[in-house]
Order: sequence, then structure tokens, then C-alpha cells
Amino acid sequence: MMSFFRCVADDFDDQHLGSRSVTSCGIQVLPSGSWTNRYPSATTTFASEHQLNASTSEGAPRRLLHVCAVRAVAQKSRFGLWVPEWFSGCSENADLGEVHSRAFRMGACTGRVPRSTIRTEKREEHTMTTPLTDLGVRLPVIAAPMAGGATTTAMVIAAAGAGSLGLLAAGYKTPDALEAEIATVRAASVPFGVNVFAPNPVPIDADTYRRYAELVQAEADRYGLTLPANPIDDDDAFDAKVELLRADPVPVVSFTFGLPGTDVIRALQKVGTTVVQTVTSVPEAEAAAAAGIDMLAVQAAVAGGHSGTFSPDRMPAPVPLPDLVSQVVRKVRLPLIAAGGLGTVEDVRTVLNAGAAAAAVGTVLLRAEESGASATHKAALADPSRTETVLTRAFTGRPARGLRNRFIDRFEGSAPLGYPAIHHLTSPLRKAAAAAGEADLVHLWAGTGHRHAAEKPTATILAGLAG
Ligand SMILES: Cc1cc2nc3c(=O)[nH]c(=O)nc-3n(C[C@H](O)[C@H](O)[C@H](O)COP(=O)(O)O)c2cc1C
Repeated sequence: MMSFFRCVADDFDDQHLGSRSVTSCGIQVLPSGSWTNRYPSATTTFASEHQLNASTSEGAPRRLLHVCAVRAVAQKSRFGLWVPEWFSGCSENADLGEVHSRAFRMGACTGRVPRSTIRTEKREEHTMTTPLTDLGVRLPVIAAPMAGGATTTAMVIAAAGAGSLGLLAAGYKTPDALEAEIATVRAASVPFGVNVFAPNPVPIDADTYRRYAELVQAEADRYGLTLPANPIDDDDAFDAKVELLRADPVPVVSFTFGLPGTDVIRALQKVGTTVVQTVTSVPEAEAAAAAGIDMLAVQAAVAGGHSGTFSPDRMPAPVPLPDLVSQVVRKVRLPLIAAGGLGTVEDVRTVLNAGAAAAAVGTVLLRAEESGASATHKAALADPSRTETVLTRAFTGRPARGLRNRFIDRFEGSAPLGYPAIHHLTSPLRKAAAAAGEADLVHLWAGTGHRHAAEKPTATILAGLAG
């Protein structure tokens, strides 16, 4: 239960503060959770009451944001704005006129609000805040984590520089390598996150593995490679990575592939970390909420790269992202980030209107200046003849989406489930092929928005998508 105060200001003279100005002040006025259901059009039209999910770490900026938001909402409508109790120290007796005067003096607002026109009233409401805005993230579009080289420390720093958030991809890295990346980003004094693969292995028996290995070896022979003869299983150093993140906390940790134990979630929360879980369905979202997760990353089947599904033994259902977001919002009272197939401002707006607090993009950043994706991968994304993405398990034994190529066409029919064993099987071949520029043997991870991947700075791409 959280206390909310309704601030009503009904006689503003300012004509200049629209929703863009609000965003540029560092505010997001986003209806979230149940508010979206009640006021579906509120984000874009300011047609009704708004719950403000905005914050910074200091009291003073919060106060400025508060006033700006009150003004923006009141300017567009004669409705009020509900703000959480902690926000600007708001109370029935708060001197909002004074807060506004201060904001005006500091240039945060361009017009005056007559003190007499602001009044507050109190109510109690079950609701949630947005952890991203608590970190000072201003853009409603963040850089999704991409393991395998695409996400770089430069990309994460560039995202933060644009008012967005980037997440380092811990997947496939050693704890030492991850520690070094964290140190690099931390030195830039920006908010960031770390994404970790939570173990959720798909076992494979040795005979099934060997049958597939024999088939794939035929391709590896061209590079003089001998692929692993027996299944390799590992957990990507999960415990060591969690211990690193617990001992040396970062602002955000997100998990994919599976839900970690509540002990892990609690341990990270205890050191002040916001814990995010990737989910691909309502039941997964409900399980994450029950486990005490802070925020969801709701990923649709059109997303590039591996699906975060908790059930990797079947392909994720083809539910459109806005529908998936709406379904989750109806069932789970957690703020959420929407991911999958987003390539345009309109795509982003649609998922925000469906109830997401933010959108996450991966594929559209693969050709960014700061992307560490291989040259072969980048070139394939720009190749107009590669028009189709498909869900495949041929490369790793776990559902993932990539540009269709000869490897998928040849092996999908015979590829078994088996993660991480199939990942380890094909990894040497994929590396050699990428180095040789042989895109037809490389996992060209991409979502359905791949046509929008452009060779631009990360900051430009993220800001452009935020509109
Ligand atoms: C090359 C690539 C690597 C990815 N690696 C990870 C990863 O390590 N962890 C993760 O949670 N998601 C990973 N993803 C999924 C993204 O975080 C995100 O959900 C997805 O990119 C969103 O869909 P979009 O690619 O259509 O924008 C990866 C995606 C791509 C394209």
C-alpha cells in the first residue's frame, strides 16, 4: 500500500510545456499497471489523471519534476496528477507554490503557477513505481543485453549518455571478463545493468548428440575443426557471476532462460540491486512475480537471439508483443519492459500504450557504431537478399531467432534440443565461419525488425526510437 497525493492545478498560464518538454526535464508520465487499463490513451493524450512514475535520487530534482509534471498535465486537461508520497515530499500541507517558484528560478519551468491554484488531496493506492526512472533513466527505450560480442561496454556507456540504460551481457563470459567490463562501465559513472543466464538446461542423451555432431562435423571439416565428440554441459559460471554481483553490486541485474532461486533474487535485492526477469508468457510472469522479482522484461517470439522461455523444449508462441504486454499487465502488478521486433517510433509507442514502462531493443543496435557484432553478422543484416528471420534450434539446441541461412535450412530438420550441449558443439564452427565471412554457417541472430538496423551511433538510434 502506498500513499498518493492528488495535485490539481487548474489555472496555468504556461503554453510551452507539452509532453516533450516533460520528457526533456527527465520525467516520464506513464500510466502503469492497472492505470493503463483504466486510462488506455493517457500516455499520448493526457486526457485524464496520470500516475507519475518519475524520480531522481535527489530530493530537489524530484521537486522540480513534480512541478513540471503537474503543470504539463494540468495544461492539457483540468484533471489532476497522482504522485507517490515520497515524490517531492508531497503532503497535504506541502508548499507547492514554493516548489514551483524554485523550479522557475532554476529554469526548469517556463511559466508561473499561481500558488492559490494548486491544492492536494490524499488517497491510498496499491501501485508500483518504475525502477528505471529511479535510476534516472529518461528515455523509454533501453539497450537490450546481447551476448556473444554485440553488447560492448561502449554501447552501454553510450546508451546511458543518451538517458537510456544498457545492460552488459554476462552470457558466455568468464566472471573475470565480466568484472573487467563492470569496472569499465562503472568508471564512466553511469547507471547500467548486467544480464545473466539463469541455468535451465535442456538435457540431451549422448547418442542423440553424436548423431547430430556427425552431421555438423561435415561442415566443420572445411575449416579443419574437430567438434566436441561428447555433450558439454555447464551453467555458464552462474554461481560465480551471482557472487560477483552480490559482492560488488550493480544497479540492475536481469536474468534470462530461467528463474533463479529466491535466495539469489533476495541476495541481490538486499544489496540494492533491481532484479529484472525475462518472461515470454503470462504464467512465466506470474512465477517471476511470485518469486519477488522487481521488474519484468516481456519478450515476444519475434525477438532476435535466444528466447528467454522457461520451457526451451518448445518454440515460443507467436503472440504479438503488444498483446503479450496487455495480457501480462492484466495479470501481474509489476512494471515491465517490452522487447521483441521493435524497429520504429510507432512500434515503441504501441507497446508503451499497451502498458509497458519501457521498450528494449536489440536487433536495431546490432549495426550500431558501438556494436561488437561480427562484420559477417553486420553485413548479413544489411544484405537485402536476407529477408526472413526464423526461430531455430539448429545452432544451440534452444529456440532462437535469426536470419534464415543455409545452416538452418540444412540442419533444422535434424537438430535436437539440447542446451548448452548443442551450443558448445557448433560454437567452433560458427566462430571460424564468422572469421571467414561465411554468413551461411553463422548464427545471424536477428528479430523481425532487422530491416531497421542502421549504422549509426547507439545514442542516435535509442533517442530516435523514443521519438
Ligand atoms: C545478438 C543477440 C544476442 C542476445 N543475447 C541476449 C543475452 O545475452 N541475454 C538476454 O537476456 N537476451 C539476449 N538477447 C535478446 C535481447 O536481450 C532482446 O530480448 C531482443 O534483442 C529484443 O528483440 P529485438 O532483437 O527484436 O529487438 C539477444 C539478442 C540478440 C539479437
